[in-house]
Amino acid sequence: MEGTPFVAFDEVSVEYGSGAARVRALERASLQFGQGDFVCIVGPSGCGKTTLLQTLAGFLKPTTGSVRMQGRPIDGPGPERGVVFQQPNLFPWMTVAGNAGFGPMVRGAPRADRQARVERLLRLTGLLEFRDRYPYQLSGGMQQRLAIVRALANEPKVLLMDEPFGALDALTREKMQEELHEIWRRRAMTVLFITHSVEEAVYLGTDVVVMSPRPGRIVEHLPMPFARQAGDRDSRAIKSDAAFVAMRERVLSLIWQSAEG
Ligand SMILES: Nc1ncnc2c1ncn2[C@@H]1O[C@H](COP(=O)(O)OP(=O)(O)O)[C@@H](O)[C@H]1O
Ligand SMILES: [Mg+2]
Repeated sequence: MEGTPFVAFDEVSVEYGSGAARVRALERASLQFGQGDFVCIVGPSGCGKTTLLQTLAGFLKPTTGSVRMQGRPIDGPGPERGVVFQQPNLFPWMTVAGNAGFGPMVRGAPRADRQARVERLLRLTGLLEFRDRYPYQLSGGMQQRLAIVRALANEPKVLLMDEPFGALDALTREKMQEELHEIWRRRAMTVLFITHSVEEAVYLGTDVVVMSPRPGRIVEHLPMPFARQAGDRDSRAIKSDAAFVAMRERVLSLIWQSAEG
């Protein structure tokens, strides 16, 4: 597999509808990234971020072009690609533990394995003591944490996240960023992460991809130094550092230019 990118979007175009109602959501988007990368996608509303993610999730087939993972074309959804949306979409009639273990259960994983895996993930995210509660008994942050646990329980090779922290208050959001980053570092996960927040993208990503609208295009793919900075991460210190602020402003101005152009 030397030389084969972990994930490769090759000239992906997507059109919705037909005739006069046709919308060109994505135009010849090409993007590659490696295993263990944390790729953040930013860009104004309607530039095709969700559309791009959905072609890798397997929810949507490109009109032209191809999406491959480890050299194999994507053909529908699969457990090796976990998806987390802005709304946690939990099963309200299932407990925390039931929601967390749902994927492994439907795939027929042995009960003991499943329980051990779920327990480990719930402990990691501080949800273990709530295992017998129901989703409505959890805060928004805890619900979203559970949605992430549910995706991770399938042991995906890549986690696809579409504005996962968009509905959370600022403090919860920062805590969730730290938790997700910790999980990413510990498990050598690969993450594709869509966000409206340039600060979040520059802080979390090993890569930041900037998209522009009408039609949706990839305009820039920048490597980021902050995600792999060694040692204990002091988030406030990193985010107020001059190099960080300069990078954040650079990405912001790229988005402004692309929205005007
Ligand atoms: N199911 C759909 N039917 C028709 N048009 C759609 C559909 N989904 C998205 N679009 C359009 O495609 C473009 C890209 O949408 P989307 O990928 O959701 O962008 P983003 O996630 O960046 O906001 C937008 O113009 C949007 O209105
Ligand atoms: Mg979207």
